[in-house]
Amino acid sequence: MLDIHTATAQPHVTRRADYTPPEWQVPDIALDFDLAPERTVVRATLDVVRNAGDGPLRLDGAGQTLLSVKVDGVAINDWRFEGEALVVPLSGDAHVVETEVEIQPDRNTQLMGLYASGGNLCTQCEAEGFRRITYFPDRPDVLSRYRVRMTADKARFPVLLANGDPIAQGDGDGGTHWAEWNDPFPKPCYLFALVAGDLACNAGTFVTMSGRTVQLGIWVRAADVPKTAHALEALKTSMAWDERVYGREYDLDVFNIVAVDDFNFGAMENKGLNIFNSRYILADPDTATDYDFDAIAAVVAHEYFHNWSGNRITCRDWFQLSLKEGFTVYRDQGFSADQGSAAVKRIEDVRGLRAAQFPEDSGPLAHPIRPDEYQEISNFYTATIYNKGAEVIRMLATMLGPQAFRAGTDLYFQRFDGTAATCEDFVASLEEASGIDLAQFRRWYSQAGTPRVKAQLRHDTGGGRAILTLSQRVPSTPGQPVKAPMVLPLKIKLFGADTARALSEERLVLLEDDAAEIAFETVTERPVLSINRGFSAPVVIETDRTATDLAFLSAHDDDPFARYEAMQQLMLDTLVASASGMHADTDAVVAAIAGTLDDAALDPALIAEVVLLPSESFVGDQMAVVDPEAIFRAREALRREIGRTLEPRWRAAYAQAAATGAYVYSPEAKGLRRMKTVALGYIAASGAADAGALAFAQFEAADNMTDRQGALTTLVSSDAPERVAALDIFYNRYSDNALVLDKWFQAQALSQRDDTLAGVQELAQHRAFTLANPNRARSLVGAFSVNQRAFNAASGAGYRFVADQLIALDKLNPQTAAKLLPPLGRWRRFDSARAALMKAELERIVATPGLSKDMFEQASKSLAG
Ligand code: TRP
Ligand code: ZN
Repeated sequence: MLDIHTATAQPHVTRRADYTPPEWQVPDIALDFDLAPERTVVRATLDVVRNAGDGPLRLDGAGQTLLSVKVDGVAINDWRFEGEALVVPLSGDAHVVETEVEIQPDRNTQLMGLYASGGNLCTQCEAEGFRRITYFPDRPDVLSRYRVRMTADKARFPVLLANGDPIAQGDGDGGTHWAEWNDPFPKPCYLFALVAGDLACNAGTFVTMSGRTVQLGIWVRAADVPKTAHALEALKTSMAWDERVYGREYDLDVFNIVAVDDFNFGAMENKGLNIFNSRYILADPDTATDYDFDAIAAVVAHEYFHNWSGNRITCRDWFQLSLKEGFTVYRDQGFSADQGSAAVKRIEDVRGLRAAQFPEDSGPLAHPIRPDEYQEISNFYTATIYNKGAEVIRMLATMLGPQAFRAGTDLYFQRFDGTAATCEDFVASLEEASGIDLAQFRRWYSQAGTPRVKAQLRHDTGGGRAILTLSQRVPSTPGQPVKAPMVLPLKIKLFGADTARALSEERLVLLEDDAAEIAFETVTERPVLSINRGFSAPVVIETDRTATDLAFLSAHDDDPFARYEAMQQLMLDTLVASASGMHADTDAVVAAIAGTLDDAALDPALIAEVVLLPSESFVGDQMAVVDPEAIFRAREALRREIGRTLEPRWRAAYAQAAATGAYVYSPEAKGLRRMKTVALGYIAASGAADAGALAFAQFEAADNMTDRQGALTTLVSSDAPERVAALDIFYNRYSDNALVLDKWFQAQALSQRDDTLAGVQELAQHRAFTLANPNRARSLVGAFSVNQRAFNAASGAGYRFVADQLIALDKLNPQTAAKLLPPLGRWRRFDSARAALMKAELERIVATPGLSKDMFEQASKSLAG
């Protein structure tokens, strides 16, 4: 099933500027599947009508065997292949084209098209998987009504699902049965889905705002049904939320979700039949953490929200991917913010953006949220398209305000319903509904790179005036050496250093030029600047605020997110100084943390976020040359000092959080559990003799995975004698649960110990390790490559390990392998010795015979960029 692409020096590049409308549309398609893992036969009947041009019908295909072609009921043989595409000459403007092909789902290791997972059959078609199922114009602007018939062995595949509504079913010969489904909504082929398997259903109903009853079903292995309650609840909550917040109602009579163990991504929004990575469905307190529960609700909401932002209105071409993904992430973030602490949700999202998107935007793979070209579209399902894309929508919402933003999305949904639209269509709708000129704002769609803003506040003590000087710079990125200034919506407020009172209302300043000056009047005492509150723009802010100012804001800002930001900046400044061998005032950090812990008005969930040190890689991002060892030592030293100096407070916080009784899933209980493990981490960092015993006691007594994993993570990074026992107990207890074993691998890959690399090399040989399952591959290889110190070991052994694994994985699953490559491309950020070692691995990858085009694009761009 694998393609034999030879990665040539001249890879095929698809360009946004080359878009032309499809020559043929396919208003209707009927598909007939004879399903079996070893051999599936697909008969497709396409009603084709000419849309533009005068060329033949060109149908994409990949990795399938063509058995026959008919036009208007007559077998033809004047078709030809162009590469893997099937070209059929047609004389008129409307024809019926039938093809018959054979595919082998059980040989499909790349998990695109029709494949087998855990004995069941399922599909994944986004972005270009449908062409692996049948010949079709595989592009998102060809919209068709689908009618699907499936026949399969009844005992092996008792459940047959597809998009839309079920219309008929029955028994056939030789122990087979069949089912027919019809989807009345025209859709692009990337939203096609079917599932055949031995599945059980957790069923529910939802009554929509116009009073229609929708049958909901979550389909899993029978034994897993008890783990689907949270996902089903989240689905109902999402459906109600989208009605209330965006006026969006569901449109079919059924909505099914199927969970599969082998999946390249998080989940897929196929019309009426979402298919999920089982990690985003299955949860119970014993096996899923609070983080998992939250992620499940967020992904269920995300995929559901795609029914409007993605399915009813889809993308004209894949360059518009952020039209559906950025907007849908923005929508799911709003949903999650409404389910618990909005401040904590914002902190998590910004942390994620800084961990994944900022490095992408400053590295060789940087691209705008609407890229101009790609070699392999799968490589563009990135943090930039998704998360920066969501930040761009958030800025639009901030600038328009809630009413105008809602008017804009209403107009967009109404005007483009049933079509394949562009990012421009979305922006133009918001512009028209609000009357706000977004001409310059559109640069967010075309310019890559994270803008940097310098902010300097000067106070004229006599006149009571403060002047804020702002300037911006957008760094150059591959292919974009020179940038124009962006529109940056910055929420700003001043606080009085003496009284801690607000000296101004919050102001929304739009920085549109290279530089600007903003005046604040009646500033009667020394002002402290609070800027980019709520992270109103996805930028880096550089100020000359002192440690005293930052500590002040961490205690007195009235925006909880800004308190977190001030503390982060204070910690970062301290860590960068000490990692660079300069004097660092750690007392200010310790005092600020003490103040936060003592603030009885703060929610424990927020405290737990605020007192955490920035990650090693985020510290590295602030340095001209990343020194992984120095950063690790500086951070460990600071952790130890915070742990020691505040030990009584950590113990008190721990005891208080631990005294909460039996497990419940609520925002309050989640906050306390978070606080408990954060406190445990600092007690361990202090070097206290009983830390191992305390962690092990938490591990043993835990009635939920959050506490158990928190204790395990602490132990795994320690030298405590309990470490090995905890790992063994954990492994044996969950050896039959793949999702929990992923946590076991991941915890060890992220360990802070000196021997992590050796441990990970050994784990790659473990009998439970396999590259064939993407979750497992990510849990070891993906986790290890973000462990900054271990991955960047001076010997280069970390790089070599990852490259070896990716070369092996590429032969099975190029898409997943290519997704894990970017850490090797960060060589410009390191000293020349490490850079040479990383480049050598990238060169080895590029030179690998039979390399996929996915890997070729990532590796060659990482070398060049
Ligand atoms: N559209 C999916 C989402 O964001 C993404 C997705 C699912 C995907 N499976 C994929 C992208 C496979 C690329 C390849 O919800
Ligand atoms: Zn999505």
